[in-house]
Amino acid sequence: MASIITISGLTKSYASGFQALKGVDLSIEEGEIFALLGPNGAGKTTLISIVCGNVRPSGGGVTVAGHDIIRSYRGARSAIGLVPQELSTDQFERVIDTVAFSRGLFGKPRNDAYIEKVLRDLSLWDKRNSKILELSGGMKRRVMIAKALSHEPRVLFLDEPTAGVDVELRRDMWKLIGELRETGVTIILTTHYIEEAEEMADRVGVINKGELMLVEDKDVLMRKLGQKTLTIALTEPLSAVPDHLAEWDVSLKAEGNEMEYLFDTRAERTGVSSLLRKLGDLGIGYKDLNTRQSSLEDIFVSLVHREQMA
Ligand SMILES: Nc1ncnc2c1ncn2[C@@H]1O[C@H](COP(=O)(O)OP(=O)(O)OP(=O)(O)O)[C@@H](O)[C@H]1O
Ligand SMILES: [Mg+2]
Repeated sequence: MASIITISGLTKSYASGFQALKGVDLSIEEGEIFALLGPNGAGKTTLISIVCGNVRPSGGGVTVAGHDIIRSYRGARSAIGLVPQELSTDQFERVIDTVAFSRGLFGKPRNDAYIEKVLRDLSLWDKRNSKILELSGGMKRRVMIAKALSHEPRVLFLDEPTAGVDVELRRDMWKLIGELRETGVTIILTTHYIEEAEEMADRVGVINKGELMLVEDKDVLMRKLGQKTLTIALTEPLSAVPDHLAEWDVSLKAEGNEMEYLFDTRAERTGVSSLLRKLGDLGIGYKDLNTRQSSLEDIFVSLVHREQMA
């Protein structure tokens, strides 16, 4: 597949001297859904704002649909639809007017049929004559998406599309984003939610402190995230892992009072029940069991740790 966005050596230092991006390289394939995951302040919005031409980079380069974002700003910008993190739109305007107006801003000729299609796709057609302030939060968010799609962009940026949205609306949004991708638009979204990346993305990038730490196919990343740790609180401490447990990936913690077992939740046999049966056979008693999902945070921690070791 061809790249629609190429980002190379991108850096950004704000006027305060704060370095928000420290040399980001990334290419986005046409037609994919790319999820950018990262904690607060990681640089997600900064990255998007630069690609969309709203923030000037300090160094490096970006092309969108073959246009350099600085030398050929209009060409690059017209290929992009942006749904910003902070929703802002004229509260007193009617839905259909605000969407049609956005299209005009890009110098595109009026196209009522296209605007109708966008509003229908986003289930906003019935609300087309409502003022924005009369809509629910979820509908307002969809209006922002309609505005971003109004000029038929090839790439759609969604900066935290589901922040502060309830679970049901979040699912609706995921479905909608899936449907948008069917129309051929390339989608880049930022999120804090690992389930969101899991649900939506073809590829995932993890950004932390201005550095892109990992870019991976979703399936590969999820396999890593699919690891769980089972902690078994033993009734009597053990001094060593019994030889009979060699086939399980177990280790002792808390001075032998706890046994930890790392397993893959996606495996057909996790080994949990056979391990517990074996403990019973060996007469090793336990008083409590606890499982913990390895989280995005664990991945951050291990990535950061590895970096410090290097
Ligand atoms: N205009 C600005 N001037 C100075 N520093 C800024 C500016 N905008 C952002 N920053 C800083 O750059 C860093 C990255 O901010 P950014 O908004 O890109 O993070 P983010 O990953 O989008 O975070 P969040 O998940 O909270 O939206 C932060 O430390 C932020 O304080
Ligand atoms: Mg942000």
